Amino acid sequence: MFSWLTLNDLALTAQGALDPATWAYFSGGAADEITLRDNAAAWQALRLWPRVLRPLAGGHTRARLGRHELTHPILLAPVAHQQLAHPDGEWASAMAAAAQGAGYVLSTQSSVPMERIAHDVLADPGRGPLWFQLYWQADRGFNRALLQRAEAAGFEAIVLTVDAPVHGMRDRERRAGFALPPHVRAVHLQATPPAPPAPDTYCAGQPAHAPTWDDVAWLQAQTRLPVWLKGVLHPHDARQALALRVAGLMVSNHGGRTLDTAPPTAQALAPVRAAVGRNLPLVVDGGIRRGTDVLKAIALGADAVMIGRPVVHALATGGALAVARMIRLLRDELEMAMALTGCRTLADAEAALLDASASTHRTADD
Ligand code: FNR
Ligand code: LAC
Repeated sequence: MFSWLTLNDLALTAQGALDPATWAYFSGGAADEITLRDNAAAWQALRLWPRVLRPLAGGHTRARLGRHELTHPILLAPVAHQQLAHPDGEWASAMAAAAQGAGYVLSTQSSVPMERIAHDVLADPGRGPLWFQLYWQADRGFNRALLQRAEAAGFEAIVLTVDAPVHGMRDRERRAGFALPPHVRAVHLQATPPAPPAPDTYCAGQPAHAPTWDDVAWLQAQTRLPVWLKGVLHPHDARQALALRVAGLMVSNHGGRTLDTAPPTAQALAPVRAAVGRNLPLVVDGGIRRGTDVLKAIALGADAVMIGRPVVHALATGGALAVARMIRLLRDELEMAMALTGCRTLADAEAALLDASASTHRTADD
C-alpha cells in the first residue's frame, strides 16, 4: 500500500529517504525562502468560485501547447542531478512522464545522457513533448554542440533558462554542507572548457558569461527547434521575448531558488498573459501541488504547468513508479476540480472562476 496520497505527503516520505544535505539541496530555496513559501501560498490563497449544473459529459483535460496536443496540461520541470534521488535518475522520471502522457524537460545538468532518455521516451506512442533545457555556457561553440546533440537525439524544443545568471544565495544548502557526490555527474558538461582564473569581483565572474537578448537571437539562428525562455516574470521582458518571436515562455522564479523576494508566479502570470495577449503559449511553475492549483493557473492564462520538486520527492520515494503515480494523482485532482467548478474542458477555466465579478465570454448558458 502506498503511504502517500498527495504531492505534499511525498515531500515527507522523501525527507525520510534522503540524507539531510541532499534534502536541503532539493527542497531549499534562496536566502530567506520568502519566494519559495509565497509560491505555494499564493496558489492556495486564490479562491475558486464553483459553477453548478453545467453539463460535464464528454469532458476532458486536453490542452494545446505550441505545436503539441497534450492529453493533460502537466509537464515535468527540468531538475538537475536526479541520480541524487534514485540510481535511475532522469531516465526514471522521463519514462514515468512518457507513460503518463506528461511533457518532460531534461536539465542541462542531467546525470543521465540525453541520448539514452530520448531513445526510450520517443519509443512511447502515448508520450508528451520532450524538450531540452539549456544552461548557457560561456563558450558559444559548446552551446552549439549541445544544441546539435539535442537535435540529433530527437528533442523537440530548447528551453533557455534566463533567471539564473548566478546560482542564487542558497543559505539552507550551504548550512547543510551540500556537495555533489562523485558518483553523480552533470554528464553533458564534462567537456566544458576550463573556467577562466577566478576574478576579484563577483560581477566579473559568472554573470559576465550570462546570456543576453543577443544570445537568444543567436540561439534561434543556430537551431531549427522552437526556443522557449524559462524564468520570465516581468511583463516588459515578456514583450521583448514576443518581439524576438520566441516559441513560448515559462513564467517561473526557479522555484524560489534564485532571486529571493521575487513575486510568486501566481501573481506574475496574469500580467505576463496581458503583455503577450494570446500570441505566445505560457507555462507556469512554482509551488503547484494540487489539481486546484493547476486549474487556477489555467484560469489565469497558462496553457500548461510544470512540476519541479515533487518529481525528485517521488523518485526518492519509489523511483519511476512513484513519479508516474504522482503525475496521475495530480491529473485526477485536476479532473475533480474541473467537475466541481463546472469546467467540461480547460477552455472553460477562465478568469471568472477566480473572480465572481470578472466578465465572462460565456453567454449562451451562463
Ligand atoms: C530546479 N530547477 C531547475 N531549472 C532549470 O531550468 N534547470 C535546472 O537544472 C534546474 N534544477 C533544479 C534543481 C532542483 C533541485 C530544483 C528544486 C529546481 C527549477 C525547476 O525547473 C522549476 O522551475 C521549479 O522547481 C518549480 O518549482 P517547484 O515545483 O519545485 O515548486
Ligand atoms: C538549481 C539549478 C541546478 O536550481 O538550477 O539547483
